[in-house]
Amino acid sequence: MDHSATFEDLLHARYGGAVPPAAVPEPGVFRNLLAHRSVRAFAPDPLPEGLLEALVAAAQSAPTSSNMQSWSVVAVREPGRKARLAELSAGQGFIRQAPLFLAFLADTSRLARLGQREGIELQGLHYLESLLVASIDAALAAQNVVVAAEALGYGTVYVGSLRNKPVEVAEVLKLSPGAVAMFGLCIGRPDPAVSTEIKPRLPQALVLHKEQYQTTDSAEAASVAEYDATLAAFSERQGMGAGNGWIRRMINRLATAASLSGRDTMRESVQRLGFPLR
Ligand SMILES: Cc1cc2nc3c(=O)[nH]c(=O)nc-3n(C[C@H](O)[C@H](O)[C@H](O)COP(=O)(O)O)c2cc1C
Repeated sequence: MDHSATFEDLLHARYGGAVPPAAVPEPGVFRNLLAHRSVRAFAPDPLPEGLLEALVAAAQSAPTSSNMQSWSVVAVREPGRKARLAELSAGQGFIRQAPLFLAFLADTSRLARLGQREGIELQGLHYLESLLVASIDAALAAQNVVVAAEALGYGTVYVGSLRNKPVEVAEVLKLSPGAVAMFGLCIGRPDPAVSTEIKPRLPQALVLHKEQYQTTDSAEAASVAEYDATLAAFSERQGMGAGNGWIRRMINRLATAASLSGRDTMRESVQRLGFPLR
């Protein structure tokens, strides 16, 4: 994080254009959150002893639905295993480079085993709801890791492409039935030779609705067009191609089943991994 950046500087970077009238009495934690950017180039140095366990303590401190704690995390440092996971995750090279890769699991298997020991089949685990709960809890836990790691100067990037081949990933990680890797998280020291800017987000008016959801097509289209231009300029500054705005990216990301990079068969994969999804 640029330590000279004020809360207002960071707000400008976060929105690019119109800045919301945000005000806080103590900007401390907001400065860390607003300064977030994903890091995709890492220095090779390993993480210090005890940091993994500290990060997982932060993760376990997140709220969790009914205290069910139906998530787990597999910490992968072994280069061969990281390389295999990178291959299964669209070949993203930074997975190999990062000294630590965390695979976050929606994990109902522990509760299923608890039920078996008690001689009761926990039928609630058979429903889609249980996968949603486990996934939400896993995401909340992971984001605590991101916030804690960034506060210490580490960089992170989530890896959603870990869901491209969930059955193969489950084999690599030897997951129990009832556990599925929802996403990965790379952690390491950012490579000092590569600088990344804060990526602007949608104008706040598109996301924040006061009292009731309100939108009109024309206002939304105008704000989206504004954001499209902001993101195109960002992409150009980052060397990610001129004229590559948000609209085109969203269309490419979502237009067809093939745009989902294998995740269009997620229901079947998750069922094979032991989630009936009733
Ligand atoms: C669940 C999730 C999965 C993601 N998967 C990937 C990924 O597979 N590869 C990647 O390069 N970035 C991935 N990202 C990072 C997003 O692309 C990034 O957060 C977004 O573009 C905003 O940029 P910023 O994090 O730098 O602000 C993922 C983010 C999330 C939250």
